[in-house]
Amino acid sequence: MTQHIFIHDVVARDGFQIEPSWIPTERKIEIIDMLSQTGVAKVEATSFVSPKAVPNLRDAAEVMAGIRRNPGVTYVALVPNVRGAERALAAKADEIVLVVSASETHNRANVRRSVAESFAGFGEVLDVLRGSRVGVVGAIATAFGCPFEGVVSEAQVIDCVARYVDLGVRGVTFGDTTGMANPKQVERLARALAQRFPDLDLTLHFHNTRGMGLANVLAGIAAGVVRFEGCLGGLGGCPFAPGATGNVCTEDVVHMLESMGYDTGVDLDRLLAASRRLGEIVGHELPGQVVKAGKSSDLHPPPPELEPTLSR
Ligand code: COA
Ligand code: ZN
Repeated sequence: MTQHIFIHDVVARDGFQIEPSWIPTERKIEIIDMLSQTGVAKVEATSFVSPKAVPNLRDAAEVMAGIRRNPGVTYVALVPNVRGAERALAAKADEIVLVVSASETHNRANVRRSVAESFAGFGEVLDVLRGSRVGVVGAIATAFGCPFEGVVSEAQVIDCVARYVDLGVRGVTFGDTTGMANPKQVERLARALAQRFPDLDLTLHFHNTRGMGLANVLAGIAAGVVRFEGCLGGLGGCPFAPGATGNVCTEDVVHMLESMGYDTGVDLDRLLAASRRLGEIVGHELPGQVVKAGKSSDLHPPPPELEPTLSR
């Protein structure tokens, strides 16, 4: 049986949060609506964070109100605190993703509090959400390395997961915020996590900062992970991590996995059309490769000078 891999696109959050110029609300909605028709399992549509911290996503409520929802897609919003959870509830997000960093320094840079303070706040967030139908996932940034502190130990990551599990989250996402992970490390950590938390949905979120993104996806699959995040076009990056660059590119991930025989349920042609539209909207070249090269199945006519030899 072909193995199913779930693809989550996070361009409307991780991508748009760091774009150098303002993307109008209608254009954000247009991209999310295109993604909704591709077959991706989840779309992270925005974040409900401080508009001073991330001005690009200050239109989060308008975006959520304007999208055409596909009932087969889970619409996710990133939330750092109670205020964000209240806004996400009001905007009818299907799922919220909490965020903490495995490293203290990045957590302070990102959300201006200690890791312990973040988790204490999440307790209050869950109180706010109790009784609602919104799902809760916990994300761990810098799970594979921190641009300020360097190595992040497996114990640090497991400690964060255990705290999320105590809160009752349905899944945990592991972010390689600045592309420091290597495939051996990914496989080792993913195996350790699956063994320790067999009932938890694990999702991997890689950035391609050092060209290891696709290799890390395959390492995750080798360890049994079936959920991966990517950004359309390969946009993305954390504004609070020096040197951050784009996520693994969703269409490149889908192209690779489908050509290897995995079933992603994603219509690659529609995804590529969305990526081309994204390029027009942001007005600069995208890091993604398949959108430029074409699919490996897209063939070219032979050079005309070969024609006589070929017809012989
Ligand atoms: N939504 C909207 N506004 C919010 C908010 C939220 N979720 N949380 C806080 N604010 C506002 C407060 O109302 C306050 O506004 P004011 O200055 O007009 O009174 C201001 O933001 C500061 O609030 P405070 O609680 O003191 O927060 P802070 O300054 O300590 O910042 C965070 C903490 C978490 C709100 C902020 O760092 C943040 O939003 N970070 C987002 C990080 C991010 O998105 N990173 C990339 C993705 S991982
Ligand atoms: Zn990211």
